[in-house]
Amino acid sequence: MNVHIRAFEVADEDAVVTLWEGAGLTRPWNDPRADIRRKLTVQPELFLVAVDGDEVVGSVMAGYDGHRGWLYYLAAAQTHRGQGVGRALVTEAERLLEALGCPKVQLMVRPDNTGARGFYDALGYEPFETWATGRRLIVDGPGGPA
Ligand SMILES: CC(C)(COP(=O)(O)OP(=O)(O)OC[C@H]1O[C@@H](n2cnc3c(N)ncnc32)[C@H](O)[C@@H]1OP(=O)(O)O)[C@@H](O)C(=O)NCCC(=O)NCCS
Repeated sequence: MNVHIRAFEVADEDAVVTLWEGAGLTRPWNDPRADIRRKLTVQPELFLVAVDGDEVVGSVMAGYDGHRGWLYYLAAAQTHRGQGVGRALVTEAERLLEALGCPKVQLMVRPDNTGARGFYDALGYEPFETWATGRRLIVDGPGGPA
């Protein structure tokens, strides 16, 4: 695999949004460009991309909140699935989180995403029962937050 992992750079934005759309990770209520802009203000070094040459072929957005590490927006390009890109991204995110003293990493998977469940099982992640809830504080308009 001729792929390496590095921190997201501003010039990657279009490619990352295309990657997320192709991986089915975007939702109408989440403006991906606003999500990227916000992440660049909080632990931007934990927002990683996998690149093959100059092509973005994977991403993961990690964060440490002082109690748990979280993973979001994990994706591998369709052209590069099954080649270890997803594993490499998660492994590097884990390494960076652990270096911050983060004791546990976890993530949320949408109920219908059975593929992601199989992937995380293969990486030794252990599912746990929880009831997830939330409340939106900022509603993004067209073009993202002001
Ligand atoms: C999930 C995803 C990132 C996996 O990326 P990938 O690069 O194909 O995965 P890898 O090649 O690194 O696979 C790592 C291991 O997981 C296993 N695996 C991957 N997908 C799997 C699946 N659907 N079911 C079971 N095992 C799976 C692989 O066999 C491999 O095992 P091994 O290392 O023991 O051989 C990719 O399928 C994807 O982008 N999916 C769409 C977006 C998504 O659902 N993201 C997660 C949101 S929570």
